[in-house]
Amino acid sequence: MKFHILTLFPDMVDTCLQTSILGRAADNGCISFHTVNIRDYTLDKHKKVDDYTYGGGAGMVMQAQPVYDAWKSVQKDGERIRTVYVTPQGRTFTQEIAREMAGEEELIFLCGHYEGVDERVLEETVTDYISIGDYVLTGGELPAMVMVDAIARLVPGVLHNAESAQTESFQNGLLEYPQYSRPFCWNGKEVPEVLVSGDHKKIEKWRQEQSMARTKERRPDLYEKYISENTCICK
Ligand code: ADE
Repeated sequence: MKFHILTLFPDMVDTCLQTSILGRAADNGCISFHTVNIRDYTLDKHKKVDDYTYGGGAGMVMQAQPVYDAWKSVQKDGERIRTVYVTPQGRTFTQEIAREMAGEEELIFLCGHYEGVDERVLEETVTDYISIGDYVLTGGELPAMVMVDAIARLVPGVLHNAESAQTESFQNGLLEYPQYSRPFCWNGKEVPEVLVSGDHKKIEKWRQEQSMARTKERRPDLYEKYISENTCICK
């Protein structure tokens, strides 16, 4: 899967994507990243990419021309690559959206800055408006990285242990059960006995119960949804 990131801060994006699991996956060829510096596409002789907002008001707006030309540079003839504009005005990103997007062959992320991007170029290019939550960040790079990370790790081959993407939080609508590692006793606290019993059925049952209890306590909204979707109403 190929990710194109249109940004005014390519160094920030590259540093992040070359690191850790995503960097390794890109080296292995499971995924690839292509960072596009929007500033390289401006026709302004001073390399300007922003200007004042029509109608007045504080802050600058990213102009349509450099954004459009940067976007065009990664589009293929006849095909439109799904284009995500990261913005607090979008629908909220979820694991479900990550799963759905992981099925794409290519994705474009447009990272905005200043007071935003000229509306006309958004109308021409964007297929999905997505937010990472109800708070405002200084730019679109961090939210784009959050989404790229969540999507990329679902691409086959990116995670070494295929199981870990299957049992984790949200996979079945519940939060993941607690995990323990050695030593058996740490700071006076022992690992729950069932986990060293060797009885896999019991362990499975314990984990399911823990998942349910944890979800009920920490995310009652998810718990309600899980219960309503998993309760059989029989006569
Ligand atoms: N840009 C600024 N804040 C954002 C947010 N919460 N989500 C996505 N993009 C953003």
